[in-house]
Amino acid sequence: VTHTPGHPELTVAEQAALTSGSDFWHSTPIDSAGLPAITLTDGPHGVRLQADRDDMLTGRPATCFPPAVATGSTWDPELLRRMGEALGDECRAMDVAVLLGPGINLKRSPLGGRDFEYFSEDPVLTGILAAEWVRGLQSRNVGASLKHFAVNSQETDRMRVSADVDERTLRELYLRAFQRVVTQAQPWTVMCAYNRLNGVYASQNRWLLTDVLRGEWAFEGLVVSDWGAVADRVAAVAAGLDLTMPGPADAGDQALVDAVAGGQLDPALLQTSADRVRALVDQAATREPGSYDEEAHHELAREIAGRAIVLLKNDGGLLPLATDDGSASVAVIGEFARTPRYQGGGSSLITPTRLDDALTEIIASTQATVNFAPGYLTGDTAAEEGVTQADVAAEDQDLLAEAVAIAGASDVALVFVGSMGETEGSDRDGIDLPAAHLELIEQVAAANPRTVVVLSNGGVLATRAWEAGVPAILEGWLLGQAGGSAIADVLFGRVNPSGRLAETIPLKLSDHPSYLDFPGENGHVRYGEGIHVGYRGFDAREQEVAYPFGFGLSYTTFEYGQASAAATIDGIEVRIPVTNAGDRDGREVVQVYLSLPGSAVSRAPRELKAFANVAIAVGQTADVVLSIDRADLAYWETRLGRWVVEGGEYHCAVGASSRDLRSTAVVKVPGDDARIPLTAGSTVAEWLADPRGARLLAEAFAAGSPDGEPSPIAGMLANPSLMEFIGSFPLGRMAAFGGGLTPDALQRLLVAAND
Ligand code: GLC
Repeated sequence: VTHTPGHPELTVAEQAALTSGSDFWHSTPIDSAGLPAITLTDGPHGVRLQADRDDMLTGRPATCFPPAVATGSTWDPELLRRMGEALGDECRAMDVAVLLGPGINLKRSPLGGRDFEYFSEDPVLTGILAAEWVRGLQSRNVGASLKHFAVNSQETDRMRVSADVDERTLRELYLRAFQRVVTQAQPWTVMCAYNRLNGVYASQNRWLLTDVLRGEWAFEGLVVSDWGAVADRVAAVAAGLDLTMPGPADAGDQALVDAVAGGQLDPALLQTSADRVRALVDQAATREPGSYDEEAHHELAREIAGRAIVLLKNDGGLLPLATDDGSASVAVIGEFARTPRYQGGGSSLITPTRLDDALTEIIASTQATVNFAPGYLTGDTAAEEGVTQADVAAEDQDLLAEAVAIAGASDVALVFVGSMGETEGSDRDGIDLPAAHLELIEQVAAANPRTVVVLSNGGVLATRAWEAGVPAILEGWLLGQAGGSAIADVLFGRVNPSGRLAETIPLKLSDHPSYLDFPGENGHVRYGEGIHVGYRGFDAREQEVAYPFGFGLSYTTFEYGQASAAATIDGIEVRIPVTNAGDRDGREVVQVYLSLPGSAVSRAPRELKAFANVAIAVGQTADVVLSIDRADLAYWETRLGRWVVEGGEYHCAVGASSRDLRSTAVVKVPGDDARIPLTAGSTVAEWLADPRGARLLAEAFAAGSPDGEPSPIAGMLANPSLMEFIGSFPLGRMAAFGGGLTPDALQRLLVAAND
């Protein structure tokens, strides 16, 4: 960072003050240097500008866009960019310089309390969508804060727990989306996570914040802490953490001054962090206040929500519903239709500019007679003063009876159920619907075979227990303030659903790859499933799932032609014709999953590497082209500490979900030169698998040992069947068996093998 002209040198004390906030939401102004305070606030699906100083949570009214659980299901980068632009406009109107988002941690477990705030179980989908969100926001000269860096995949003990992850899993899964967004969208800031990573707090993890983020990914922005994440201020600055929030943090500031004076902290490190804060303030300060069109943003929120809804089931074409059948009657059942569940709890909580409910929108969408019954109590009602469990049970039964009655008397029943709430700070303990909701579905479906279930939930819900008797299911996730309209748009066919699952819906929780290692205990959580996160794990164990990653139905049908693939200088290009064979215009999300049979390293059976969200009119065929960067073919080679593209025949499977692959093209890709150095610790089998190593051993031992002694290596070279017995011996250990493998002979081999 170069010093901004016109900024006089700051004293150490001023530098220290600059590297911490002045209060909960502002940087520290330095009048002598002409540095104003700037505002940082949440994100990520709306601008939460605190309404008053005392209330930590409530923000001023702003557009509550769909949370990431919904936007992740759109599989549409262009939508995310438009959302970022709109958020940027709202930030400018409220003079917010940095919006704290996007949240891009992976959904490692469906129990994750903040899964509603994250995009997916897959790093490619996450990274591509998040990069567009960042580009959109920053196009308004408002900074993003990519969070939470890194491996903040749970809420349990989040301020202390150590995420214990092997290096390859870390690189290929948990850091991969961060790497993509940092290198492709250049967020102004990155927010470090609360948790430890392999024992070291993220806030003072130099390997993470400096070696990887800056040394490898060339990040030039500022690292801000999560609020309260700094345990040791001096260690944090030494590791590369530039701005500690919230402020004021006078004690920490003084600790920095003392550490510099006492020689415990290199003053250049503090200067660098102060310069990064100055650069951020300068970048943010050059803005004129903006404005935004509230109605237009609401309509955008409605458009995004409509594209997020996933049609899981539609037997007999029950959906879309008719709009002009005055003789029909529709039963709308469930409090969530009247009182929407539209976002999660915690720091992302937005005060919406308005709130659409599905009941009102359904009534406005049809000439049919609409009857409503709440069907169940929500937490608020059940918690009223003096209400006993018995009262609740009795009222539940009354509500149930009322709902069943109107269902049985109507042509179609719409049942709005879901989870009772997800929030930052707490993980869930299960993925089943509340008992009252389960009973409601069962009894309504029994009373009316034309039943549609509409889910509102921030985390995955199991469907197996109840879906058999239900012909149609919409997964509505949490859709933001316009969700009620969006649901009506899809129910009545104004929008043809194109949402796709960004996370697997398992048959039961214990099937999940993370199940045995979540959420850990005694300060550690072991990422035992390794690279087999989400669908990768279900596929590797050939497990049935309720609904696979990438799944989603449409009101039309799409047919896929034959895929073709070609290696290009940049990677792989896949082409496939896709035809809308139905009777309604629609969107298809064409997905490409790559596999490399016979790979030298363990791999998931298939991995998402590219996708295209394509609008295709009735009867039309789209020639879909999907590009895969060579960098996305690479795996992390732990023995070399770098990315390596393995040569071989890559299978590019193209389809409508991870388990609905319609056509596969095979393409040969040249590998990187990534020879693993041979050492005394390399096994005999590894020496013989390496062309140069094999030649050297043959030259040295094929004619027996140099000193005439019987040589096990010569014996094995002559009798390869011994490989199973001896091949796993490190070459250096073979010296114990004589036969001429003297230390000098071994040294000569090592030099010749690796010169
Ligand atoms: C919270 C969250 C983070 C948020 C920050 C400010 O605890 O972890 O996502 O941006 O603090 O509210």
